[in-house]
Amino acid sequence: MEILIVEDDFISRNLLKKMLVEMGHEVIETENGIQAWEYLNNSPVSIVISDWLMPEMDGLELCHKIRNATFKGYVYVIMLTAKDRKADLVDVFKAGADDYIPKPFDPEELRARVMTGVRVVHLEEQHNALANTLIESRNKLRIVFDSLKEEIVSLDEDLKIVSVNDAFAKHVGKNLDAMVGKAFFSDTEIRCKIACNEDIKKLVENVFKDGAGKKKLLMGSDQHGGDFYRQVSCLPIIDEHDNVFQVVVVTQDITEERKKTEEIRSLNEQIMETSAQIEAKNKKLKKTLQRLEDTQTQMLQSEKMASIGQLAAGVAHEINNPTGFVSSNLKTLSDYHEDIAELIEKYHELIANLESEENRGALSELFCGSLEQLKAFEKDIDIEFLMEDITDLIGDCREGTDRIKKIVIDLKDFAHPGEDKIQSIDINNGIESTLNVVNNEIKYKATVHKDFGNIPSVQGVPQQLNQVFMNILVNAAHAIDKKGEIHIKTRSIDRNVEVIISDTGSGIAKENLTKIFDPFFTTKDVGKGTGLGMNIAYNIIQKHNGTIQVESEVGKGTTFTITLPTEG
Ligand SMILES: Nc1ncnc2c1ncn2[C@@H]1O[C@H](COP(=O)(O)OP(=O)(O)OP(=O)(O)O)[C@@H](O)[C@H]1O
Ligand SMILES: [Mg+2]
Repeated sequence: MEILIVEDDFISRNLLKKMLVEMGHEVIETENGIQAWEYLNNSPVSIVISDWLMPEMDGLELCHKIRNATFKGYVYVIMLTAKDRKADLVDVFKAGADDYIPKPFDPEELRARVMTGVRVVHLEEQHNALANTLIESRNKLRIVFDSLKEEIVSLDEDLKIVSVNDAFAKHVGKNLDAMVGKAFFSDTEIRCKIACNEDIKKLVENVFKDGAGKKKLLMGSDQHGGDFYRQVSCLPIIDEHDNVFQVVVVTQDITEERKKTEEIRSLNEQIMETSAQIEAKNKKLKKTLQRLEDTQTQMLQSEKMASIGQLAAGVAHEINNPTGFVSSNLKTLSDYHEDIAELIEKYHELIANLESEENRGALSELFCGSLEQLKAFEKDIDIEFLMEDITDLIGDCREGTDRIKKIVIDLKDFAHPGEDKIQSIDINNGIESTLNVVNNEIKYKATVHKDFGNIPSVQGVPQQLNQVFMNILVNAAHAIDKKGEIHIKTRSIDRNVEVIISDTGSGIAKENLTKIFDPFFTTKDVGKGTGLGMNIAYNIIQKHNGTIQVESEVGKGTTFTITLPTEG
């Protein structure tokens, strides 16, 4: 440590120096107070050992000057003196010295006193460092305290202001110094600036009482009648005995925040409302789309039906005319045949007469020859068989034309283009006429077994239900590879009519069973199936308040069960 020696006596100075250097100190020598004072002003030291009596400036004056000066660190002063009266020593300490060493000094005592000085200087340094840190922290805290937008005031037990931050000072319109020590709740100038101060007072008093922090949202009206909101927190500061010695009141005006929160809430509500509306519109749109899709499939179906109907009606018309005249000609032919048969009968009677015993001799030879030829020809052509066969043939032809007529009627029944009125339907008849129409599609693939029950009529559109049967029957025929069976059964169950159509075709894979009623689902090659048949069937049965179900096993076959409510 640097030690400044102030001693006019050369021997004493040297002795002193030697001892201090031995102790490991750095020593600066001066001969009087003036020199020492100059040196200290340029480079202050921590310990000064000064003689009292010296020329120019004595030790006491130097000591006075040091104590009145503002050096950065503390200067520990030890006075060397030969004076040993109590009053002298009092003077030494009055002048500001920290210690004294009587002259002539004892080396041991000197060492001990210097070491005490060193300890004090160290302690002083530590204290200064701590104080500096404390000040630094305090300053930092103050900066933070002042930068907060919340208004903060700390109050003592008498509810007097200890400190405030900038935000609070700004709010009240007074600086910190003007407020410290003022009664927070009763000072008229401060009181008028603090809204809801009675409520805050209660909170603060309660914190002093129970030592627990409090938080409250206070509401009031400003001078313009508008609502305001203040969030108030009261926090205790506890001393080492666990007593509340101050309460910090933090207030924040959250009116704007509340307004914004309100605005956000109302915006959110609007957004929710709008999205609900959008969702509702979406649902509506989806429904419309679904309806459109349904209409599209229905239109496709109607088109299909219309073209089938038109085709059927056209074919029926075209067949009807020739069938008409073939049928009436056959009737005439049959009448003619009867006449011719009667005529031939008469010829036979004539020949028999001519050939009788009494007439034979009277006939010319030529005539006899012609008769023989006639008989031979009759035999040749087997006239009896021929006449019988002509009857059979005409009968067959008439049966044929009857069948054609029936088919024409069925065709007309099957599809009346443009006619979709609800009427009473005999399902068995409907299936019959459908079978006639699709016969060509089925007959090479399957034998059809009909098991028609005695069933009541149902209400519906005939050509639509026929369409369902046709779609199912055509699918059944398609599912059969070479030759199979199709069973059609109708029966009456409870108040329903049940139609069960099963085939011995390929069956439907499990994963496809739920899809076959979807529009456009097909397993058939492009161009062969549109995938609409089952969807159309499903829609038609639904419109008729019925159900359609499918059961199938791959490799064994498929069964469709249609249930339709009976009339009344
Ligand atoms: N009886 C059945 N046996 C096996 N598979 C069937 C049967 N009925 C329907 N399917 C399956 O259901 C699919 C859908 O049938 P749907 O009648 O709707 O369409 P499609 O027959 O493919 O075409 P189209 O629109 O010409 O009728 C068929 O492709 C087929 O895979
Ligand atoms: Mg089909």
